[in-house]
Formats: sequence, C-alpha cells, structure tokens
Amino acid sequence: MSYVINETVSWVGKKDWELRKFHGEEYSTHRGSSYNSYLVRDTHTALIDTVWAPFADEFVDHLEQETGGLEHIDFIIANHAESDHSGALPALMRKIPDKPIYCTASAVKFLKGHYHQEWNFKVVKTGDSLSLGSRELIFIEAPMLHWPDSMFCYLTGEQILFSNDAFGHHLASEHMFNDQVDRAELYQECIKYYANILTPFSRQATRKIQDFVNLNLPVTMICPAHGIIWRDDPLQIVNQYAAWANDYQENQITLIYDTMWNSTRKMAEAIIEGIKIADREVTVKLYNAARSDANDIITEVFKSKAILVGSPTINHGILSSVAAILEEIKGLSFKKKKAAAFGSYGWSGESVKLISGRLAEAGFAIISEGHKTLWNPDSQSLDNCVNFGKSIAEACLEPVEAKEV
Ligand code: FEO
Repeated sequence: MSYVINETVSWVGKKDWELRKFHGEEYSTHRGSSYNSYLVRDTHTALIDTVWAPFADEFVDHLEQETGGLEHIDFIIANHAESDHSGALPALMRKIPDKPIYCTASAVKFLKGHYHQEWNFKVVKTGDSLSLGSRELIFIEAPMLHWPDSMFCYLTGEQILFSNDAFGHHLASEHMFNDQVDRAELYQECIKYYANILTPFSRQATRKIQDFVNLNLPVTMICPAHGIIWRDDPLQIVNQYAAWANDYQENQITLIYDTMWNSTRKMAEAIIEGIKIADREVTVKLYNAARSDANDIITEVFKSKAILVGSPTINHGILSSVAAILEEIKGLSFKKKKAAAFGSYGWSGESVKLISGRLAEAGFAIISEGHKTLWNPDSQSLDNCVNFGKSIAEACLEPVEAKEV
C-alpha cells in the first residue's frame, strides 16, 4: 500500500501492526511500528530507505506497481544500514543491481557487513547534493543518531527533512500525520524511543540539532523512518529533542524493586509514604522489575530526578530482574540523576551494597548508603523505611551539581 504525502513524495513503506518486540526481544512495541520508505518523483526518481527483511518481497512487489517498473527508480538513498531499513535491499538489488545507492562511508561498510554485496555505492558527506531535476536532495550526516552511519536528507522545493530514526517512534497507525493521531499516545512513544535508544547519544543529538538549526532550512515536514510524519508544527519534535537531550528530568522519583516474600515490597511502599510526607509535590512511581516492561521502566527512569532500587539478598547477590534492569540503566549513560538502594535480608545481606555499586558505576550520584531490613519488616522497621523515604525526598530537593556524574 502506498500513501500520497504530496505531489512529489509517496510513502511506500510497511505498517507492522503485530510487532510487539523490536531489536530482537530488547524493545517492547505495544503499539506496533512502521518501516517508512519514501519515493520522491521529479525528473528523476529516488527511493529513500526500504523495510525490514520479512516484508521485502511484498515491498518490492508494491514498489514495482507504484513505479510502473523498478527501472524507473534512478537513485536509492540508504540513510541508515540497520536491518529494519535496509532489509529489503537484497531483494530490490536483485531486480535492479546496477542502480546507485547513496549513503555515508560508514554505511557502505555496514551494508557490506550485513549483506556481503558489492553494490554500486556512492559515498556522500554533509553538504553533498543530488539533483532530481527541479529539486535536490541535500545530505546531512548524523553520526550516532543512533549509529555511526546515520544520515538525514533534505528535499529542496518541498522543504522536507527525511530524518531516518531521529524524531521517529514505534507506532502503527491508520493515519500518516501527527495532527491526525492521539497526541498522548504519540508523545508516549516518542519519549520511550528517545529514552531507550537515544539517551546515550544526547551530546551528539544536541550538536546535530544545533547544526541543523544553523543551516536555517525551512521545514514543512519531517518524515522519519518509523511512525507518523510531522507536518503540524514539524519543529516541535526538534525542540522536544533539544529538551530531552539536555539531561532531561521531571519532579519524579521512581522506585524499582523485586521481592521474594514481600519484605522488599513492603519496604518500597513504606519508603514511598516517607517521600510523600516530606515532599507532597513530587511524583512517585513504583515498579516491580520482574512484572513490568523494562522499556516502560527505562522511560520512567529517564523522566526521574532520582531512582531507588531494591532487592533482597539471594546467594550473596541480587534478584535477576533487578540485575537485568541495572544493566540496561548502565548502558544508557543517564546524567545528573540521584540514586540509592534498599532491600531485605536474612543473614549475609549484600544486596544494598551491590546495588549501590552498580548505580555508581552507571553514573548516578549516590545520595545514601542505602537501607536494609532484617527479615520481614515489623512496624519499627517500616517506620525506619518511612524515615529513609523522608531523607531521600529531602536529598532530592537540590539538583545534582552541574558536573557530569
Ligand atoms: Fe530504525 Fe536504527 O533502525
């Protein structure tokens, strides 16, 4: 199926309504996704990106119908080599093997690494352009947004930015444009995408946004490679990215825990009580790591000024669900956030120290040595947890010092 974006540009991608996991099993896609591919028709025709390999054959068949013959495609633009956008290249290139593929130098290496083919690659750099007739595509390298090979391209005349993963989101919708969809759903998918994929590259995002703003190019639409197209106030998502890239946080504290016999859960709930006594304004959220979606938890960590992580001690260590979410948190390189640990124990009691160490390694400012409870908490122990919560709320009233942590 194709959709008319305007007289020059058509969407020829694939909406993946049933997708529930992306990047293998790493990223939950509660609302599906789309792999956006665009056909730009001027005197010459350019295809921008393709779709994921499971949909390659139907993509090529539809493209053949849409173009009246694949030989009418003059140029292929590969903004990014990751499989969700390049997966249909092998099927397409079997039909039109000599057509040029425009991409960055890194993308050549990555595409060869994926597909082991010597296609007709044309390496482009920032500022290079490709004439389609009366319009041009201008290429803008965007390294680490989110791979080294990532690239944007800008269509003159139509004033459209094709931004690939940047400004995208995993959302399958019957609609094509941001003014047609539920804004709350769209925002949730955008912030989840940024938190889980782009957080480690926030410094590069800030620089690239500034570079793009400095180009002073008019933008009527931003066409990402996933989700809907930004046509109503398209720069709103650029401005939102600028805010998210600037060590974003809200007035929120998130507790993440797992529990065996509910002792650590009772601790968590008493800690929340203490936080709310000390600070009635702060938002507090509580997640059992074993029973919650990891990417949803990460999104809440992204929004938080502080996190508390709890696990009972087991075999001198911590529960596996807590270890797993700590590993994800570490990889995302959050900045300027505070943290502390808590947990119950029966004899050896290493969990709090272990969690505090992992949070410190992940770059969090540790605001307390943490709080332990022996066995099942009695009323005195719960009072101690309430007091721990109060002390955490008070410690979170001041921001982390403006140095990198
Ligand atoms: Fe949507 Fe980095 O691939």
